[in-house]
Amino acid sequence: MNELTIRQPDDWHLHLRDGAMLDAVAGFSARQCGRAIIMPNLVPPVTTVAEANAYRDRVLAAVGPAHDFQPLMTLYLTDQTTAAEIEQAANDPHIHAVKLYPAGATTNSENGVTDPLAIDSVLGALERTGLPLLVHGEVVDPAVDIFDREAVFIERVLSPMLERYPELKVVMEHITTAQAVAFVRSQGDRLGATITAHHLMFNRNAMLAGGIRPHYYCLPILKREKHREALLEAAVDPSGKFFMGTDSAPHPKGAKESACGCAGAFTAPVAVELYAQVFDQLGALDRLEAFTSLNGPRFYGLPVNERRLKLERRSQTVPAPVSAGDDTVVPFLSGESIDWTATLLDE
Ligand code: DOR
Ligand code: ZN
Repeated sequence: MNELTIRQPDDWHLHLRDGAMLDAVAGFSARQCGRAIIMPNLVPPVTTVAEANAYRDRVLAAVGPAHDFQPLMTLYLTDQTTAAEIEQAANDPHIHAVKLYPAGATTNSENGVTDPLAIDSVLGALERTGLPLLVHGEVVDPAVDIFDREAVFIERVLSPMLERYPELKVVMEHITTAQAVAFVRSQGDRLGATITAHHLMFNRNAMLAGGIRPHYYCLPILKREKHREALLEAAVDPSGKFFMGTDSAPHPKGAKESACGCAGAFTAPVAVELYAQVFDQLGALDRLEAFTSLNGPRFYGLPVNERRLKLERRSQTVPAPVSAGDDTVVPFLSGESIDWTATLLDE
């Protein structure tokens, strides 16, 4: 297959940041995706309905009128989040989920939740209202090896949480392990998962063998090959429980290429092409549309996009670094050749 046309994808996990960075990166996602779940880990974080709506206005301003792109907003849970805020979020047309960062797990998570099993009134309100809980599924216990943090999170936090709240709707974000794939499959339809393009493409050797490559450093960290293989099987499986979430996470070049580099891969400029390359290599291009464009809307109870996106087997060079105010941001695989080119078709 050298060409295929699919329904326009959505990105169910995206970091757009704020200010000059937001202005620099928003258009890349809007050129491909109809909607995106916008992560709230700004500094300070987006913790209230009012802040989420103000941020939505800034996202729309950065995208501009040329693109028909809907930012689906989220709230950042803290130890102080109230059930009343959740009720208000559930009634707001622009808020589609809340995000649980275990405090200290990743970029700008310092204000996250210290004990995810202790926020009972919030979890109860989520279960009651049906607003999805998006989890960064890693424990922060320093005694747990960084490569095991996701699997331990499932045992210590996610599994007991789902037992305690049988109707709670959860997305396990950016899964990276065979344990996560098996756990998601073992649960009913109220548990889904997103998978990034970079976790489908690479194992930890890409980051560490032959030199340390900071642009491959993200959280959860890349794992060994057998876990990548499990993710590939999940992405193409017909369960409908796995969907596209890029976790595209831009950082200034200097913050990535540093003695203590930030976690995050800025994949948005060629996100859909990267997924197409993975599915093509698996001989599973016929499964791509379900993953990028159908499973996510079904989970979130939203209609699929009406527009179509054309993918052609035509190589392109991943864009050069982009300026963002006084900074530069380097796209993941910048300067390298990839096999596919995506074009959004007119309505
Ligand atoms: O690699 C990551 N980058 N993982 C996250 O969980 C957060 C993200 C970011 O905001 O930079
Ligand atoms: Zn993320």
